[in-house]
Amino acid sequence: MTTSRTQILNLLWNRDEPLSGPALADSLSISRAGVWKQIEALRSEGFAIPSTDAGYVLASIPETGSAALELGLDAPFSVEYHDAIDSTNRCARELAESGGEETAIVAGEQTAGRGRLNRDWESPPGGIYCSLLCRPSIAPVEAPLFTLAAAVATTETLATVGCDGSIKWPNDVLVGEPERKIAGILTEMQGETDRIDWMVVGIGINVETPPIAESTGLNDEIDGTVDRRTVIQGIIERFHQLRAAPAEILPAWREHSATLGRDVRVETPEGSVVGTATEIVSPGALLVETDGGTERIHAGDCEHLRPISAGR
Ligand code: BTN
Repeated sequence: MTTSRTQILNLLWNRDEPLSGPALADSLSISRAGVWKQIEALRSEGFAIPSTDAGYVLASIPETGSAALELGLDAPFSVEYHDAIDSTNRCARELAESGGEETAIVAGEQTAGRGRLNRDWESPPGGIYCSLLCRPSIAPVEAPLFTLAAAVATTETLATVGCDGSIKWPNDVLVGEPERKIAGILTEMQGETDRIDWMVVGIGINVETPPIAESTGLNDEIDGTVDRRTVIQGIIERFHQLRAAPAEILPAWREHSATLGRDVRVETPEGSVVGTATEIVSPGALLVETDGGTERIHAGDCEHLRPISAGR
């Protein structure tokens, strides 16, 4: 997007009064014809900018597109939007390798979305697929905390649009009873023992319910249809707040946990652990009380063994 377009959007955004073409031309030091050209380009990106006798008004912002997602975003990420892409995580990794800085890669559809444990992630058109490229000054062992932050950010943002969920360790967002998965997170990174070079936190949210057992979609969980811009911006902003205040991440995760207090089976690289999940400890390990004592689990696939209604 050109700087002039960004400037026009910023000038029209959150403004009650129309802004005249000559005033815009003056502010941008371009001609009135230049203003008209940029306004037309913004209209073709989906912005509703009617021109009244008194000037231009920003009447509505599209749900997607780089300009729309960057407009008013209160976090230092640039946004790169694709109508369709193979995988936003793949794209963000490539950007990281070529020296890119903090960027949110967002897509309306993925043709080869990836999930945890090398699973496929169904990514039909109209979903929310977002990968945050970050370069945090932390060691790789601390990285799980950022993944938990993304799960908290997703859960809290979904609540603001009327979808109350909770987090299954480590980072699946579930809703309803029986619990159904609405969102998942895939974190990838590169670095050395003491320093992360880059980290990509990929967040996928079903908007329509996919034909997958125990899954659901946002539009089936809320009244009406969701505005994806609200959700994407909300997640990026909350994620940014949490990474700036890491001490808040675990308490927030505990508050939204669906796992603590539940009987679980966790498939770990070392085998299956069955017991009661009692606590989460830094940087994201789950403590499970088993017949043989307390197990501290750093990675694995967690299953809740009894529904919530059967008691915690
Ligand atoms: C999981 O629960 O298995 C994690 C799913 C993560 C899916 C997201 S969608 C955006 C990003 N791009 C991908 O290819 N995967 C992640």
